[in-house]
Amino acid sequence: MKCSRPFAIGLLATTCLFAGAVQADGPPSKGEQALKYRKSLYQVMAWNFGPMGAMAQGKVPYDAAEFAKRADRVALIAPMLSEGFAAETRHLPHSDLKPAMWANRADFDAKMKDLVDRSATLATVARAGDFAKSKAAFFDTANTCKACHDKYRAD
Ligand code: HEC
Repeated sequence: MKCSRPFAIGLLATTCLFAGAVQADGPPSKGEQALKYRKSLYQVMAWNFGPMGAMAQGKVPYDAAEFAKRADRVALIAPMLSEGFAAETRHLPHSDLKPAMWANRADFDAKMKDLVDRSATLATVARAGDFAKSKAAFFDTANTCKACHDKYRAD
């Protein structure tokens, strides 16, 4: 759209002003993209983790195929998360990450590895279709979420 023409008045002028304001913010930085990426992954992971939790808690009947499908997805997502905690995301607003993480990176990474390992085990166990074992593996994984959130996620 050409905004410089003298007849660009009224609605068109308003549109140009608005477009200018948006452009002034610029495209999202590398860090902002990484933050969005990690939040999106957590959303996808939680979406799939939820139905397993409902089954594990006996709120809905156990469906082995459904449980195994969700477990596979969580195991696929878990190893992708680390990338979202790139150094560029430090100091960004709109994040619930506690700044303490940056001084405890090794501990944070170990907690992330726990999630990766236990969600992989969960997916393997879930494929065998045994409810008691799947349930135990589910809570093992859920504990890794809690361990990290308690320490590194602001409420
Ligand atoms: C190694 C640490 C760690 C582990 C393990 C972890 N999380 Fe998180 N989670 C975080 C942090 C840190 C945030 C805050 C991210 C931010 O706002 O920058 C977060 C945020 C979230 C969010 C909110 C995302 C948003 O849109 O703001 C959800 C949902 C979530 N986690 C679910 C889970 C689930 C489910 C698990 C386990 C299956 C899990 N997390 C395991 C550290 C972890």
